[in-house]
Amino acid sequence: MKHFTLPQTTISAPNVVLGLMRISEKTDEEIRTLVRTARDAGIDFVDHADIYGEDLHQCERRFAQAMKLTPSQRDELTIQTKAGIVTDGPYFDYSYEHLISAVEGSLKALNTDRIDILLLHRPDALVEPDEVARAFDELHTAGKVLNFGVSNHTPGQIELLKASLNQPIVANQMQLSITHSTLIAQGIAANMQGVDQSVTRDGGGLLDYCRLHGITVQAWSPFQGGFFDGVYLDNPKYPELNAVIRRLAAKYDVAPEAIGTAWITRHPAQMQVVLGTTTPQRVADSAAGSELPLTRAEWYELFRAAGWRVP
Ligand SMILES: NC(=O)c1ccc[n+]([C@@H]2O[C@H](COP(=O)([O-])OP(=O)(O)OC[C@H]3O[C@@H](n4cnc5c(N)ncnc54)[C@H](OP(=O)(O)O)[C@@H]3O)[C@@H](O)[C@H]2O)c1
Repeated sequence: MKHFTLPQTTISAPNVVLGLMRISEKTDEEIRTLVRTARDAGIDFVDHADIYGEDLHQCERRFAQAMKLTPSQRDELTIQTKAGIVTDGPYFDYSYEHLISAVEGSLKALNTDRIDILLLHRPDALVEPDEVARAFDELHTAGKVLNFGVSNHTPGQIELLKASLNQPIVANQMQLSITHSTLIAQGIAANMQGVDQSVTRDGGGLLDYCRLHGITVQAWSPFQGGFFDGVYLDNPKYPELNAVIRRLAAKYDVAPEAIGTAWITRHPAQMQVVLGTTTPQRVADSAAGSELPLTRAEWYELFRAAGWRVP
């Protein structure tokens, strides 16, 4: 498992991390096996959000109940969580009161005294950056949140926050898979009239912006075809892509999941893949893509096979 120092932090982070959005129905033993399998593969970084589960903080609570981490086990893990979505609506809330109460709820549910990275989950149209700054200052000074980041934010939205914040934005978690790769595909087909791939959907140059500013892009839903509509692996909607994946998996002697992971880790932006599977074997298979050296030709072949244009 490749680890690197997460820019603007002192965290040694793996380039594949374990997302825990889908563990609410799992037993304690299943959660322990999932996390142990990830740890055995070198994954010591978990991704939560206050809203994961049926009830607020449910997945965070289930994780803590199952793991019963000792202080030293806690120290070995990077725990990231998110705030800012109100599911009862839904709407977004970056107010001081909401952020403070969400973090207090997460600390309690996770049974920890600190969150290593807190992400603002989805841009709040009514954001008051000075209010966010006040919440971040208070949480940081109290040692309750050590680092801050965002998710699903455009460069402009990040700049707006940065103008008020006293702490750096260290991560931006965005949806990214071979098939859902508008972040990457748009730049390849820039300025082409009448070509949908040319349309900017991320506020413009988001990936390059993050690279330039030391903001690590974290790829959520790395195996979903589109927006929560099922995985692309073995999906009859993507016959050409699956044929290329199977051939490369055989060449590198890995499972197809490793090819899906490697397509993201091979990109020089040094992104992190946020796995969502609750199947231990799939965690191990996906983790095997952490350092798999896809060639340039192979990387582009996967991209083309997913239906993207290389003009
Ligand atoms: N920031 C955001 O807005 C945002 C949004 C969504 C998610 N996230 C984060 O990203 C993580 C990953 O999201 P995700 O769960 O949608 O991602 P994913 O890894 O693309 O999808 C995992 C889902 O696909 C299923 N699956 C079926 N076949 C699979 C295969 N061969 N390999 C892998 N999975 C397969 C899994 O089922 P099994 O569990 O049965 O294996 C699971 O339900 C979440 O846990 C969360 O931490 C963030």
